[in-house]
Amino acid sequence: MSATYNSVYPPEEDLIMNQQQLKQQIRQLAEERNALLMAHFYQRDEIQEIAHVAGDSLAMAMEAARTERQVIVLCGVHFMAESAAILAPEKTVLLPRPDAGCPMADMVTADQLRAMKARLPGRPVVSYVNTSAAVKAESDICCTSANAVRVVNSLAEDEVILVPDRNLGRYIAAHTDKKCHFWEGYCPFHDQLPEEDVLAAKEAHPDALFLAHPECRPQILRMADHVASTSGMIDFVRNSPVRKFILGTEMGILYRLRKENPDKEFILPNSLLRCPTMKDITLEDVLRSLETLAPRIVVPEDVARRARVALDRMLAVPRD
Ligand code: 13P
Ligand code: SF4
Repeated sequence: MSATYNSVYPPEEDLIMNQQQLKQQIRQLAEERNALLMAHFYQRDEIQEIAHVAGDSLAMAMEAARTERQVIVLCGVHFMAESAAILAPEKTVLLPRPDAGCPMADMVTADQLRAMKARLPGRPVVSYVNTSAAVKAESDICCTSANAVRVVNSLAEDEVILVPDRNLGRYIAAHTDKKCHFWEGYCPFHDQLPEEDVLAAKEAHPDALFLAHPECRPQILRMADHVASTSGMIDFVRNSPVRKFILGTEMGILYRLRKENPDKEFILPNSLLRCPTMKDITLEDVLRSLETLAPRIVVPEDVARRARVALDRMLAVPRD
């Protein structure tokens, strides 16, 4: 007897029902556990949908520092959960997939940064939050793509060390009078966006504005109508009368943009703008994490204490 497709694959309605049940279970268990569900804008749609708070790196760090909930389930990548654990040491911070890392954050180690500091003494180190806790502990202040220029300009020194993103570094350098020393790290997904793909999208959609994340290469940023972090892009689209946007960032952002702006159109220049580790966490992982209160992210006390100084200094920089 030949098997029908239905005997192999559950029908689509069953999958949808399954997802609905999972979402309900997660929300209920989150209340029982007094847990806050946080998701980065690059997470899978269904993860952003169940989150109490969806945000960029800066918003998630700030929310971790202020939440009264006892448990934080951080749906993002490892450095984001570490930041939450550092800022909320009395809380239980869970990363449903502890192997979800950021390749750019892995491009600089604390030893390498110590060697760079020895070569360039007296220059403060500004580390992008996309770094390990150990690298933050070696830094003077942190920044995110939303506040990087403000953070650098808030420093008294005329020269700074910027790690690890060379593209964000060059973007900062173009917006400050300070001399910037870069580390040659990069985001493999933003860095690979080709000019030709942006040009083709612009030609196909001459009425669209092109928004680019500062992790893109300078050649791409020069083609942009607006350069912004993920939350900066969301604010820009919300307040713009324009109805079409080409996005130079990770595709997960489409969920939030489409939800908030059903009447606007969003175009990705290619299908390679996908960060695989940002898609690791599934609804099943979140549920399991809430059930078991694991995997918990704990930063060693000495590292956490020093990294916290750098994060707190960033959070103290006045907003525009
Ligand atoms: P945002 O801080 O803009 O959310 O970016 C984080 C990130 O990992 C970008 O690749
Ligand atoms: Fe890291 Fe790039 Fe993924 Fe952001 S998109 S988490 S910078 S690898």
